[in-house]
Order: sequence, then C-alpha cells, then structure tokens
Amino acid sequence: MERLDKVLSNLGYGSRKEIKAMVKKGIVQVDGKIVKDNGMQLEPEKVKILVNGEEVVYRKNIYLMMNKPAGVVSATVDNYDETVIDLLYPEHQVFDPFPVGRLDKDTVGLLLITNDGELNHKLISPKWHVDKVYYAEIDKSVDEKDVKAFEAGVLLDDGYKCMSAKLEILEATEDGSKVYVTVQEGKYHQVKRMFEAQGKKVVYLRRIRFGKLDLDESLQEGEYRELTEEELGMLIQG
Ligand code: URA
Repeated sequence: MERLDKVLSNLGYGSRKEIKAMVKKGIVQVDGKIVKDNGMQLEPEKVKILVNGEEVVYRKNIYLMMNKPAGVVSATVDNYDETVIDLLYPEHQVFDPFPVGRLDKDTVGLLLITNDGELNHKLISPKWHVDKVYYAEIDKSVDEKDVKAFEAGVLLDDGYKCMSAKLEILEATEDGSKVYVTVQEGKYHQVKRMFEAQGKKVVYLRRIRFGKLDLDESLQEGEYRELTEEELGMLIQG
C-alpha cells in the first residue's frame, strides 16, 4: 500500500503540496469516487486513478539509456563531481534511479539507468554473460598476440584472471590503434587494466553496446531517453 499523494508525485503530477491542492479542488478520482484524503492508502497497480478526468498511467520502474559524457561519475551522489543522476530531469530523479554498473569518469557512451534492482542485479552479474562492447583507442600497435591473450583471459595486476574477451582490431599502427573489445564482466577499470597487462594504454574508451542494446547514436553526450518497450524486452530476455 502507498499514499496517493506519493504515487502521483512520483509520476510527475507535482509536489505533495500541489497534489493536496488538486485533491481539495476535487479533480482526483480513485475507482470512480472523488478523493477527499490526499494521504489515502492504495495499491497503485490495482486501482484506476483519474486526474482531471484523465487516467493516470502507473509505473513503478523507469529504464533510461544515457550517452554518458566524460567528466561525470557513475554514482547517485558524490561530494566533488557531478553524477549521471544530476544530469536527469526531476521527473526522472523522483524514481530514485541508479546507474547499472559503472563507467569511469573519463569513459563515454552507453549507460543504463534504472530503479529496477532485480534487473540491475541480473545485468551486472557475470553469471548472465551480458556482453559489453567498447570502442577503444590505444597508444601503441595492437596485434594478434593481444587478441590471443584476451581470448585466453588476461591476468590483471592484482592476480585476477579475466574471463575470455574478444578483441577486434580495426586499425593498428605504431602511433596507436583502434579496436572493439567485448567483455562479460565489469571489474574496476577492466578494459584499461587488460591493456595495461599487455603493456599498452587506453587513451579513449566508449561503450557502444550493452547486451543486445546499441548506443542510440542520435543521443549527444549527456543526453538520455527512455528505453522503448521493445528494447526493454530485449534486455530482460538477455
Ligand atoms: N573498462 C574500463 O576500464 N573503464 C570503463 O569505464 C569501462 C570498462
């Protein structure tokens, strides 16, 4: 059971005070009756709420795709830096969303943001083998030895042996390389540390795919949008 004013406020109908005023005006109905108490308890999935005669579409969860810009951290709060949640509009912030996994402060690209804890758990657990694809630029020439090492599972500086990862070379010269990397886990600085283990440095990193979802190229860095029903279905089914 939840309070009516909280439900409506979370759906973007205004502050609790504003909802109280709307109730007082008599424009809020629940199951055909005009509401008198803005704090009435109800089960939002089970009742029909009307505001100004229009049905309220209830939803508990939100699912957003952001093209994360550099310079913001993948956290909900931070003492020093702007967070990806700070970039959201208040109508999305009221859902208390959080990022699914983390991208480093200087990494850009596809970041999912939701308040669905269950889906989050499934997506970040290596057990579910969700592919994360990155476009990366490297300071040196990447070669077949690196491809083999990634496939076998790179040993990181802390002794952790990574799961097998796919490395595709797009361009390789002594001055630098362009590659795609596909990993199924999300260890701290994983892609950067995998290259460091090969004596190379990632100079640019952008996530372009998460599971079956591609980064929407029409999103500028810092922009985001809700996932479509179809995209959400693709994520849930894995
Ligand atoms: N690997 C990294 O090193 N950094 C990221 O942000 C994501 C994957």
